[in-house]
Formats: sequence, structure tokens, C-alpha cells
Amino acid sequence: MRIFVTGGAGYIGSHTCVELLNNNYEIVVIDNFSNSKRDVIDKIKEITKKDFVFYEGDVTDKALLSKIFKENKIDAVIHFAGFKAVGESVSKPLMYYHNNLESTINLLEVMNEFDVKKIAFSSSATVYGKPDSLPIKEDFKLSTTNPYGTTKLMIEMILNDLYKSDNEWSIAILRYFNPIGAHESGLIGENPNDIPNNLMPYIMKVAVGELDHLNIFGNDYDTHDGTGVRDYIHVVDLAKGHIKAIEKVLKSTGCDTYNLGTGTGYSVLDIVKAFESVNNVKIPYEIVGRRPGDIDACYADPTKSLKLLGFKATKNLEDMCKDSYNFVRRSKHE
Ligand code: NAD
Ligand code: UFG
Repeated sequence: MRIFVTGGAGYIGSHTCVELLNNNYEIVVIDNFSNSKRDVIDKIKEITKKDFVFYEGDVTDKALLSKIFKENKIDAVIHFAGFKAVGESVSKPLMYYHNNLESTINLLEVMNEFDVKKIAFSSSATVYGKPDSLPIKEDFKLSTTNPYGTTKLMIEMILNDLYKSDNEWSIAILRYFNPIGAHESGLIGENPNDIPNNLMPYIMKVAVGELDHLNIFGNDYDTHDGTGVRDYIHVVDLAKGHIKAIEKVLKSTGCDTYNLGTGTGYSVLDIVKAFESVNNVKIPYEIVGRRPGDIDACYADPTKSLKLLGFKATKNLEDMCKDSYNFVRRSKHE
């Protein structure tokens, strides 16, 4: 089976390419490196000792997509490509609507044209807005608070409409919770060039001395220690979730939505303490005001993905902290 992976040089995409190759899928990958580095492609090959077809290009380029589908017999698609920074989406909404929506519509049109009607799409727990209760189930009401989240919700709607119009489609909408960690080789992981927005990349930069302390955004939330609680999932577990999703998509039709999380919530302080003790480093921190738009707590009910996909995360918080630190130390010495 040959899977077309968009955004395959990115954080989640690269780990999923590794799992696909390890599971004997052939892959065809596209990325424009707008948020990733070229050497990731070689690192995927180094980890798996396998080769694959790579196109440097933009998913908004429909002619290029047609060329790729002409040159390769594709069985299914995993669509990661998109912009993902919440704050940036507020200041540059058109850039987000253009990139995330146009790439997806082009891709779906070309898939339709080539009669490839099987896709797994990267959505996000952000579509749950501020949930009324926890844990979060897939049928909870949806809302968004920023353009990034709105692109995800709009694409979910497009995919649902597409399936309603043509029942030959097979679509898995995957709502990720908070991926952290890195491949155990330390060769691939998440390493933003700028000051990170997200918790673990920020902690990683403090751990290696690139930033001097972590700002913890609020300790007056309605949680066990007052700091925000999230469902952190190891990126390798998340990548394995895509193998389960693509197996399901390949053998059925329908449009289904799945939470990909662990079902366990950890606070910011839980993460800081675990990182310090697993890696034997100090993470100095300061409590500052809440970050606008943040919610108290968010964690998945993972029952549906266990039942229908057979997916269960197996790595724990120690693995997530150890592998994140291993990756950042290794990339610093390269
Ligand atoms: P990432 O930025 O590391 O990866 C996305 C990749 O897509 C990058 O390599 C980027 O260069 C590429 N890309 C972007 N636009 C493109 C385009 N038009 N054409 C070709 N390539 C393009 O992000 P990630 O963390 O790996 O996330 C992957 C997907 O999962 C995204 O759609 C993101 O919104 C979604 N998601 C991520 C998280 C998270 O916390 N990381 C949570 C929920 C959902
Ligand atoms: N936090 C800090 N200091 C920081 C960064 C984060 O205290 O420097 C706190 C936040 O307030 C929050 C927790 O750490 O309580 C996690 O924050 P992240 O920014 O790492 O993650 P979010 O849950 O806010 O959002 C992420 C992605 C979204 C995605 C969402 C759900 O950025 O795109 O997970 O998948 F939608």
C-alpha cells in the first residue's frame, strides 16, 4: 500500500513516516519546509534504513498535486500540512485560511479526480473550545476561539459534507491532544527556531540553557495545583495511532472522528517536576498571569479510538520527558 503524506517533514508527520515505513507501507511525501528542515527527510531514511519518494513543494499547488498522483499510484492520504500557531493565526488570519483551507480543498479535488477516496486528517482538540465537562468525548459540542481552530473545524465540516455527497469516501478525522516527546533515536523531534509557544519546547530550551526560565501562565486554575492541565501524548504513540487509522480507512468507508490522547491529564507543574526528576536538570520557573484563551483543563476520553481503531497510547510521562531532552541535547551538539 502506498500512502501520500503531506507535511511529512514536520513534527508529527516525520514520526508517522517512520512508523509507516516500519510497517512496510510505501510512502510518497510532500513538504515545502515552511516549518521544518530539509535534513528531516534524510533522518527518516537513516532511522528506517528505507528510501521513499519526496517532493519539495506546496500543497496549495494543484498542478503539482496532479503530477504527483499521475507519477505515483496512491492508495490513501494522511494530511498533516498546515500552519498551527494559535497566536500567529490571530494576527495573520488570511494566511491561515489560505494555507490550511486551500491546500485541503486542492488535495480533496485531486484525490477525487484520481479516484483515491481514503484520507486521515490532522484535526485538534482545539475544536472542543472550552468543554462543559471532562473527559472529552467525540460527540461534545464544538467551538473555536481563534482562526487556527476555525480552519480545523471548517475542514472537518468539508470532510463530513464530502462523505455525505459520496459514500465511497473513507475519512478519519483525528483530533490530537498535546503531542510531546521525540523519536528515541534523538534524530527527529520538535525544535522550533523561534521562541516556542508550547510548553514542552519551551521547557526543552530552558533545560539546555537557551532560555533562562519558564513562565507558567497562571496558578489559579480550577485544577489540583492551580496550573493548567492537558492530555500529553508521546508523538511516537500518536504516530502509531495513524497506522491504526489508516488500516481502518483502507478497509472501510465512512467519515469518523477519533480523539487521539491518553485520557490522563497532567498539570504544568507535574510536567516540570517530571522533566526535572527524569533528566536530573533544574527548570527555573516563574508564575505569571494567565495566557488569554487558555482553559483550565483538557483531556480525552480515548474509549472510541480504543474500541474502533484498537489504539491505546503506551508511553508514559517519563518517556515523554526523557525523549524530549535526548532530542534537544542531540540536536544542539550537531
Ligand atoms: P509542523 O508544523 O511540524 O508540520 C507541518 C508540516 O507541514 C511542516 O513540515 C510544514 O513545512 C508543512 N507545510 C505547511 N503548509 C504546507 C503547504 N502548504 N505545503 C506543503 N507543506 C506544508 O506541525 P505538526 O505539529 O507536525 O502538526 C501536523 C498537523 O497536526 C498540523 O495540521 C497541525 O495543525 C495538527 N495538529 C498539531 C498539534 C500539535 O500540538 N503539534 C495539535 C493538534 C493538531
Ligand atoms: N504553558 C505555560 N508556559 C508556556 C507555555 C504553555 O505555562 O510557556 C501552559 C499553558 O498555559 C497550558 C499548558 O502549558 O496550560 C499547555 O500549553 P501549550 O501551549 O503547550 O498547549 P495548548 O494546550 O495551549 O495548545 C496545544 C496546541 C493547540 C492545540 C491544543 C490541543 O498549541 O494548537 O494543544 O491539541 F489545539
